Amino acid sequence: MALVSVDELLAKADREKYAVGAFNANNMEIVQAIIEAAEKEQAPVIMQASQGAINYAGLAFISAMVKLAAESSRVPVALHLDHGTDFAQVVRCIRNGFTSVMYDGSKLPLEENIAMTKKVMEIANPIEVSVEAELGKIGGTEDDIHVSEKEALFTNPEEALYFVEQTGIRSLAVAIGTAHGRYKGEPRLDFERLESIKKMVQIPLVLHGSSGVPDETVQQAIRLGICKVNIDTNIREVFVGAMKEAMEKSPGEIDPRKILGPARKATVDLIRQKIQVFGSSGRA
Ligand code: G3H
Ligand code: 13P
Ligand code: ZN
Repeated sequence: MALVSVDELLAKADREKYAVGAFNANNMEIVQAIIEAAEKEQAPVIMQASQGAINYAGLAFISAMVKLAAESSRVPVALHLDHGTDFAQVVRCIRNGFTSVMYDGSKLPLEENIAMTKKVMEIANPIEVSVEAELGKIGGTEDDIHVSEKEALFTNPEEALYFVEQTGIRSLAVAIGTAHGRYKGEPRLDFERLESIKKMVQIPLVLHGSSGVPDETVQQAIRLGICKVNIDTNIREVFVGAMKEAMEKSPGEIDPRKILGPARKATVDLIRQKIQVFGSSGRA
């Protein structure tokens, strides 16, 4: 099947109250693991490449791998740019066949974020490439922000409505207490805020920094309007963990396939389990 639109995937998820997993792909083994897991679960899936992944693998390589995986599969697959902060990069991704892009202007003042997001919408919307944007600041677990300062960075529901009306974006990444990377303690999500945002904007909402968030917490967020759940750190942990284990078991091994093969297999298992938690099994 050719790559599909993220709008289509998220509209169905929104109606039927589940979430589509958006998994960060950095290399061939991870792309293969994501597609294998999605097929085994008969689930729609989003493969996303960050700017870092694009720098590492090369834009043409990463898009070709994901397109090939999608074309040889029966489940719907979308290719999404994760946290694009550079307009030129967004354009290059669209030209390389990405069916969705995130423009992340969350570090910019509100009006500048709106202006840049609108610019992305102007080029993406006419060719049916879907656009996700971020309002509030999700940040990283390593940012070390004090609890009392955190709320100031959360998405404001009224501002979210204004942002969506001004830009016409298709999905919104919300800052409600998650962060990218490994959590030190258990993350606490502001469900009331999530509910108010969803009431205000109605479009599909996106949960970033979802690795390490307890399953029941993710499921509650999905009930309240999250339709896309981003996972990267858990993939890194499982992939590298399995590589280390294989290397420790056979310290003399020099065949990369014997190290990367188990890592790919462990990643399939992780992604299947995530897909089940998000409720997207059997929704392909
Ligand atoms: O949200 C960020 C993702 O985890 C991507 O991380 O920029 O290191 O590829 P990265
Ligand atoms: P984690 O690395 O915390 O899973 O976050 C992934 C993410 O939000 C990618 O955009
Ligand atoms: Zn993110």
